[in-house]
Formats: sequence, C-alpha cells, structure tokens
Amino acid sequence: MLILAMPGNTALANELATHMAMRPGTAAADVMAHRFPDGETLVRIDAPVQGRTVVLACTLDHPDDKTLPLLFAADAARELGATQVGLVAPYLAYMRQDHRFHPGEAVSSRSFARLLSASFDFLVTVDPHLHRWRNLDEIYTLRSRVVPAAPAIAAWVRDNVARPLLVGPDSESAQWVAEVARLAQAPWTVMAKTRRGDRDVSVVLDAPADAAGRTPVLVDDIISTGHTLIAAAQALQEAGLGQPLCIGVHALFDDAAHQRMRAAGIARVLTCDCVAHATNAIAVAPSLAAAVAAMAGTG
Ligand code: R5P
Repeated sequence: MLILAMPGNTALANELATHMAMRPGTAAADVMAHRFPDGETLVRIDAPVQGRTVVLACTLDHPDDKTLPLLFAADAARELGATQVGLVAPYLAYMRQDHRFHPGEAVSSRSFARLLSASFDFLVTVDPHLHRWRNLDEIYTLRSRVVPAAPAIAAWVRDNVARPLLVGPDSESAQWVAEVARLAQAPWTVMAKTRRGDRDVSVVLDAPADAAGRTPVLVDDIISTGHTLIAAAQALQEAGLGQPLCIGVHALFDDAAHQRMRAAGIARVLTCDCVAHATNAIAVAPSLAAAVAAMAGTG
C-alpha cells in the first residue's frame, strides 16, 4: 500500500504509515500540486503506484480548494496502474447540507458524495455529520468506514476530568455525547438548538438532576464560527453549572472564532487532530490507521 499525501496532509500520511508499521520513506509520499497563474492546478504523482493500493490522505476542511486536485490525483493514480484507490479524509465536508432547507438550494452532501464515489473505491473518515442521512451508504456508492472519535475523547475525559457531565449542544450530537458518556461512565444530556443563520444560534438546556457539582464538558462534532458552543456555554452558566470545557472533533474554526469563544468565557477548547489546529489534543490516527488497513485489505 502507498499512502499519498495531498498538499498540507504530509503529517497525516506519515502518521498513518507509522501506525501501520511501514517505513515512512517508502510507504508515504507527497502528491505534487502546482497552481498556475491562471488558477488551474497541475497534479503529479512521482511515487510508483503501478500494482499497488493507493490511499490519498486529504482532510476536507476548505473543500472547494482541495477537491479538484484530489479528484485529479485519484484519476492519475488509477491511470498509472493503481489496483484500487482509497481516500482517508478525517474530516468529510458538506455533510451538513443534507436537506433543501430553502427552496432552490442544492443538497450538497448528495452531490459531493456522487463526486467522490465516482473517483474512489473506498473512503475512511471520522464521525461524519450524520443527521438526516442515517449512514454514508445512503449517498455514497463506494465502500466506506466511519472511525468514531468517542473512544479517544472518552479516554481523555477519564484521564483529565474528575466528575464530568457530558453535554451536547443539539439533538444530533446525542450520537457522540452518549457514547463518550457511556465510555467515561458519566451522566449526559443534550440541548435543543435553534439556528436562524450562520451566526445566530440559541439553545435550551434541560439540566439533569445529578448535574450539580460536576464539570460540564461540551462535545460537538464541528466547531466552525463557535456560536453553537458559545450559546451552549452561556446556557450552562445561566443554569449555575459553571464554565464548561469544550471538545470538538473537527476544528474548522479560525483564530477570530477562537478569540470570540474565549471572550465569551470559554476557558478551554480542545479538539481531535482530524483537522490540524492549535487546539488539537486528542489523537485519532491510531484508529484511522487500523481502519485504512482493513479497507485496503491489509489489516
Ligand atoms: C451542526 O449541527 C454541527 O454539529 C455544529 O454544531 C455546527 O457546525 C457548529 O457550527 P458553529 O461553530 O458555526 O456554530
């Protein structure tokens, strides 16, 4: 198997190769991408792919810039003789647009699934935003495997928080929060969220009876503008439960959002390393590597 890193994903590819006990120099290589002055991209694979399973490593935050070069690289690998071409994308983009919320909108999750399914044989990702789609097979026609971040998050919570109360900011977060709570043997609850716009979110908290004296730990799959966690943190403080610790699986937020969260009284935010970010503190690479090996038929 050869793991090929798309630009910006060298660390991910090397880490996966290391966890698969391969020699990094031979098992992981970079895909070269050159951006022409006119904005088009040339992609080149210098590594030998003939007769090998090729896995492209590319986390898909900021997907609009990344997707075309990724599809070009997948086609190149296949044309150059790869026996199968897989994708490891710790963050899978566009899953939240799983419905036509307003007349005329594109259901981007379905279109994006069709694009990736046409170019790859298999996909490995971490906790995609499954809400109205129950699983990836509803929209993806390739083989897929979902790696849950809950075990790694629960281990971190067990090691670092004495009496946690796991809290999700909305109904769909129950799937992650309940599992983290089960593994960390802690109580949990989820809030009811209403979103009126990109930056206009409100939540309602129904605090459980055994919440007093516990440290609230907010868990969400995605942190983008930070407004969801800010609203949730404020609800916890208004309920007298104190400042929460915030954990996100996919760190899509920028410095401005991070500052906004701090200014709103969120003292600590930490994330899984699905998207490289200063707040990364929880590693999912070992579980990802096992899933990639299994999908490639070498695990
Ligand atoms: C959506 O339902 C997701 O689970 C997150 O709650 C959402 O993407 C967070 O976005 P933001 O940080 O912009 O509020």
